[in-house]
Formats: sequence, C-alpha cells, structure tokens
Amino acid sequence: TRAVGPDPGPDGPAVIAHRGASAYAPENTLAAIDLADRMGFDWVENDVQRTKDGELVVVHDDSLARTTDVEQRFPGRSPWKIKDFTAAEIATLDAGSWFGPKFAGARVPTLRQYVNRVERNHQKLLLEIKKPELYPGIEKDTLRVLRRAGWLSLHHVKHRLVIQSFGADSVKAVHEQRPDITTGFLGAPAVADLPKYARFTDQINPPHTSLTGAYTAAVHRLKGAHGRQLKVNTWTVNTAADAARVDDFGVDGIITNHPDIVRDAVGD
Ligand code: G3P
Ligand code: CA
Repeated sequence: TRAVGPDPGPDGPAVIAHRGASAYAPENTLAAIDLADRMGFDWVENDVQRTKDGELVVVHDDSLARTTDVEQRFPGRSPWKIKDFTAAEIATLDAGSWFGPKFAGARVPTLRQYVNRVERNHQKLLLEIKKPELYPGIEKDTLRVLRRAGWLSLHHVKHRLVIQSFGADSVKAVHEQRPDITTGFLGAPAVADLPKYARFTDQINPPHTSLTGAYTAAVHRLKGAHGRQLKVNTWTVNTAADAARVDDFGVDGIITNHPDIVRDAVGD
C-alpha cells in the first residue's frame, strides 16, 4: 500500500477502517477493530477523549448519548458529556445495543484496552485526539498511555502509529513532546498555509468532499516534520465511486466505514 504511516509503499492507497469497521459493528468498540482485523484491514482509526477522573476513553461524540445506553442508565445527567462521567461509570454502559442486538454488552474501551487489542491483532493505529479544546493536556495523557502500553517503542512509532487532530495546537503539542511520532492535521488548510503546517505535521488529512488532485499534489510537494513527503489521508469515503475518484487524486490513505467497498474499488 501507499502507506498511511511513515513507510512509503509502492501500490494503492492504504485503506483505514474508520472507528473500526464501523458500517458493520458499533463504532470505536473492540468488536469493530476485531471485525476490521477479520476482514483483513490492519489500519484502524479511533477517537480519544477524557473522563471526569482523567481516564482516556475511545468515543467519537463528546456526549455518550448516541452510542451508549447512558440516557436510560443515568437519566438525570443530561447532556451526558464524557467529561462529567467517571471511568467506572462509563465502564458499566452498553455501547453495542444501539447498533444491533448481536453487539449487546459491548463496552466503551479505555485507550489502554483499545491499544492492547490493536496490539493483539497486529494492527496499526491512526489515533485522533478528539475535541482537544475540552481536555487541556490530553496530548500528554495520550502519550503516557501509549508509552505504558509499549506503543512508543521504535517499532511502533516507525511503523504502526499516527496521531492526528482537528486541533493544530494539539498536533503541535504531540510533535513537540515526541518529535519521533508521525502526526496528521485533520482539515484542508489553504495551499499558501501548508508550509506552516509542515513544520509540525507529516500528513494533511482533508474531507474527501473538498479534495482535488491539485490539492493532493500541492501537499505532496512539501516535506513534513520528518523530512519526508507530506501525505494525504482523506475521509470519510464510503462508496466505490468516491474511492475511485480520490484514488485518481493520488491520496496515500482512504479512511472509510466500508473498508471492503473501498478495497474492491481501489484494488488494495
Ligand atoms: O479520521 C478522520 C475522521 O474521523 C474525522 O472526522 O468526525 O469522523 O472524527 P470524525
Ligand atoms: Ca475520527
């Protein structure tokens, strides 16, 4: 593949399972990354946020309402923000039933549990620090969890880990604390501003709806924080037609809820 990570690859774009194989299993659960693994996908994307008592958990929204049974379990605690719940409370929630009865009892994973499973599956992680403005210092917390899990080893940093965020300051903070880690900025900065971003990021990861071949080429002309060509991973591509379109633009990675559809479309 044309690696999403630090290693350049010869062929097509990497296919990255967005929140796991989230079209087929509840997003951001261990079931979703296990399924991606069984389907043959090594790259998985997730979203990291912080609980009231400082634990990192893997959830997309800043509220637990959409993807768990928190409303029934804690009816008085609207709007059910992650930052207002303890890790012990969150650990009791059902994060699978909303998606389908077959997934009843799936839990919200802590980041620690999540990376241990990624490790067990021999997968690779595109970790998103979600809404960093809500969680001052979350970059340091994330790096601490990764280090304790063995994920800042030379091997992991070189081949298996990318940290991205919509928050430029968050990406910068990760780069400053661990310059060896591959980083990604989520968004599509103006071409004129790209050199500024290249000082702290190795990837520009834009929505596919705003992407063009010219923009991809402009990103590829730059060298990132590690002196390597800046890469482009685009999201969230869920149809064969869109996958073929962004493949023509020469993207390095395609982030998708339907990795099987994308794989068939780009021949990865
Ligand atoms: O990895 C890219 C994508 O996940 C960014 O958007 O809202 O799905 O986290 P979102
Ligand atoms: Ca995400």
